[in-house]
Amino acid sequence: MIPDFAGAPPRLGTDSTKWSRYAPDVLPMWVADMDVPVAPPIADALAERLRHPVFGYAAVSDRVRQVIADRMGARHGWAVSPEHVVLLPGVVPGFNMAARALVPAGGGLHYHAPTYPPIRAVAAHWGLRDAPLPVESDAAALRRAMTRDDAFLLCNPHNPTGHVYSRAELEALAQACLSAGAWIISDEIHCDLLFDGRRHVPIASLAPEVAARTVTLMSPGKAFNIAGLKIAFAIIQDTALRDRVQACRLGMVDQGSGLGLLAMQAAFTQCDAWLDALVSYLQANRDHLVQRLGRLPGLRVSAPEATFLAWLDLREAGLGADPARVLLERGQVALNPGADFGAPGFARLNFGCPRNLLDEGIARIAACIPT
Ligand SMILES: Cc1ncc(COP(=O)(O)O)c(C=O)c1O
Repeated sequence: MIPDFAGAPPRLGTDSTKWSRYAPDVLPMWVADMDVPVAPPIADALAERLRHPVFGYAAVSDRVRQVIADRMGARHGWAVSPEHVVLLPGVVPGFNMAARALVPAGGGLHYHAPTYPPIRAVAAHWGLRDAPLPVESDAAALRRAMTRDDAFLLCNPHNPTGHVYSRAELEALAQACLSAGAWIISDEIHCDLLFDGRRHVPIASLAPEVAARTVTLMSPGKAFNIAGLKIAFAIIQDTALRDRVQACRLGMVDQGSGLGLLAMQAAFTQCDAWLDALVSYLQANRDHLVQRLGRLPGLRVSAPEATFLAWLDLREAGLGADPARVLLERGQVALNPGADFGAPGFARLNFGCPRNLLDEGIARIAACIPT
């Protein structure tokens, strides 16, 4: 059966972050969840579990770790053992735990900017030196900036630009980190949403010596649209490194929710065809969006290679210094302001929605751009 991504039920009134922040006449195209229903096997697994009326603390079964390890092998050709898997309630707590565990106070936290706002917040949380580098910069620039026990927080695929790092880029970045004696924290949450036939390469899969310095973070939250179920995981292959990161749960980070664990297993074992169909739908949305927005004067957008997020350069669009605010107030369409990613004049648009909503959003943006 072909999934019906165009027929999503309305989300107004469902206590969704995306749909409750702004007035009901605003079209929300901001925070990164999608306006598509989950795959039927996920809905069925949850419905079945809801028939039992007790929701006490959930255990992480051996099967969960095995399902994750198998998936790393099947999708990425990456040999991971069940004991390498660390369950988490989210990728954001995961990269904060890793930064806290690995980088001493005052050490550098490096990343490619602009970036996802919670990545920009990490250094301040833990008294680290915030060290952004332009996303266009090469590995040599990273090597020059890093010293021993710093960390590079990679975001691959990259949010907000949608860049998918090539194997050669990853090799050069990994080499820069290793030669500096630095750590790699790799947020790969968007790794199941690559376009145009691209294949994801986990940076830790490059070589054992890279894996020994790397904390990889993934989650079914983005690709399977279950971010609200609070489940994610780290893969940490080196035992001492894994123990060190685990010790930084610090009474604040648990292993995720029981319903999340259940949904993740269904997602990773029964939903490959659904995911293929979703990626095709998103890719068509991307092409449609880029073609339509590309016609607007002063608006620059390049096709993201992954994710359901488009990064719009509105600096020449005649909307002033805070274009997202103008689009919200004049056009009733909510995008993420670029300033939150460290790039004023830009905005991020979420195209993970039915085509009719996307067209509505495009029309609202177009109506605001002076011709
Ligand atoms: C790059 C990136 N990392 C992490 C997250 C959030 O992860 P979680 O909800 O698992 O904490 C997002 C959500 O948009 C994201 O884009």
